[in-house]
This record gives sequence, structure tokens and C-alpha cells, in this order.
Amino acid sequence: MNKDYRFEHKHILGIEQLSAADIFHILDTAISFKEISNRPIKKVPTLKGKTIINFFFEPSTRTRLSFEIAAKRMSADTFNIAASTSSATKGETLIDTARNLQAMSPDIIIIRHGSSGAPGLLTRHVGASIINAGDGTHEHPSQALLDVMTVREHKGKIEGLNIAIVGDIAHSRVAHSDILAFAKLGAKVRVAGPATFMPAMVESLGAQACASVAEAVSDADVVMALRIQKERQDDPLIPSLREYSQFYGINRTLLDKYARPDALIMHPGPINRGVEMNPDVADGAGSVILEQVTNGVAVRMALLYLVMGQEGAE
Ligand code: CP
Repeated sequence: MNKDYRFEHKHILGIEQLSAADIFHILDTAISFKEISNRPIKKVPTLKGKTIINFFFEPSTRTRLSFEIAAKRMSADTFNIAASTSSATKGETLIDTARNLQAMSPDIIIIRHGSSGAPGLLTRHVGASIINAGDGTHEHPSQALLDVMTVREHKGKIEGLNIAIVGDIAHSRVAHSDILAFAKLGAKVRVAGPATFMPAMVESLGAQACASVAEAVSDADVVMALRIQKERQDDPLIPSLREYSQFYGINRTLLDKYARPDALIMHPGPINRGVEMNPDVADGAGSVILEQVTNGVAVRMALLYLVMGQEGAE
């Protein structure tokens, strides 16, 4: 690490804004925090007195809970607000809601929203740090960081690895952030999925579009499957789930034939078992799916800590 390096991000909006040095700094910080979760008393005073609001407009299990656990392990005061029980249901705009949250002096607002760009919009209207917990089809940066952390723990590096991402690339903010993160760190990212799930500009993100899953998975060090994002599709974009599973589902036969024997099996969750991934793969050799969740707490502790180091910055 360059001795002049400084982490200078008050907000975490996407992988796009992070350099490779930023990503490694976040990962190294996360590693240093990871052992706190294994202590008998899982709490440090690092963020004592800080107020963190989790504001989720879309459902979440892993991201919302792990941000809350991360904040509590660092002694911050955390508050959760869901769109369905907020005054957004009475017609209040996102900006008005955010300005009202700001009036209660939070230090960090973590937001998940169905509209791409919503977290970036908030940075122009509130003084708190904003962390993007997933915005539309745009980015899910903390997911990509925990994915990179998990791969680095197992493989000892990212540069030179073959990463296969299979499924609904077009509607997946996880795919977008993962492609950007792995490509920035020097991995070769290959993607595959039905034509209706492939964004036109995928190569500009740093991925190679493959004609088949077999091609994407060939010699892969990592195989990641993605859920079909039905909530972001007005009309069905595939003929049937049975056919999708047959042609694009990750199964043991496919892995044994094409992937490296020590390939890691990943999924950001939630999994639709038997659709994008067979249960024996999700629970079998090489699966690190639950390690991804464990690392999510450490990565989110690191993000909360690092953005709080930017207090006073604009
Ligand atoms: N990976 C992920 O974002 O999961 P949740 O939707 O449960 O947060």
C-alpha cells in the first residue's frame, strides 16, 4: 500500500467510485474487524455515540440485518425504517423523507431503493454519510466487497482468477458491482445468461459475454449464480423456469465437466433452489455461500468505520 494512500469517501454509492487501493483498504479493514464477531462479547466502542439509520424501500434479510449487526457490534445506535411503515406510503417524497431524517441528526443513512441513483440523490440533500445497500439495477457495493473478500480469503488473490457469473445479469445490481470489483482487481470476468438477461453494454463494465454457460464456467475459479430479478421485469423474459434451470442452472455435472476442481460456488442470496442452482451445489463442495454472509458483517463494519473517518468532508 502506498504510504500516501488515504481513504477519502464520505459516501459509498458504488464500486465505480472506488479505486483498487480503496477496495483493498476496505478488505484489510474488514479482516481486522472480523474476529470481533467470534469474541464472547461481540462489541467494541468504535462508533459509540453515532446514529445510524437503515432505510429500506425493498425487502432484505442479509443486507439490512448485517448492517444493523455491524453497527451494533461497533456500539452505534441503530434505527430501522421500512418504506411500508413510513410516511412514504402517505405520499411523502424521498427527498422530503430524507430531509426529515436528517433533522434528527443521523451520522449515516443506509438506503436500499428500487430506483437506480436514489442514494446518490440523497447525498445532495442531507449531511449524513450515505451508504448504498442496493439501488435498482445499478449497484450493490457492499455485496461486491464481501464477495471479493470471500474469494480473496480462499484463493489468496484476485488477479488472474477466472470468475463466472451466470443468470440475470441485466437486472442484477450485484452482477454490476461484482463485475466492476473483480475486473478492477485484475480478474477475468465471464458472464452468461439468456439473451433477454444480458445487458447490451456488459463488455464496457469489464466482463466477457459468453454464448453458453459451459463457456463461462470453463476453467472457472469461481462460479456465481444469480437469482432472476422478477421484481424488475414487467413481463416474463424467459419461457419457463424449467427451461431456464435446464440451460442456465448450475448443477454438479456442469461443474465437474467444465469448472476447476477447486472452484468456489457463490450466490448473493436469496437462492431459488432448483432454478439458478441445484441444492446439492448450494450445500456441497466448494460452496462458500454462508461465508459470504459472515463476511458481510465484517465488510459492513469496515464501511461504517471508514465513512465515519470522513466527518466534515463534503
Ligand atoms: N444479497 C442480498 O442483498 O440479500 P438481501 O436481499 O437479503 O439483503
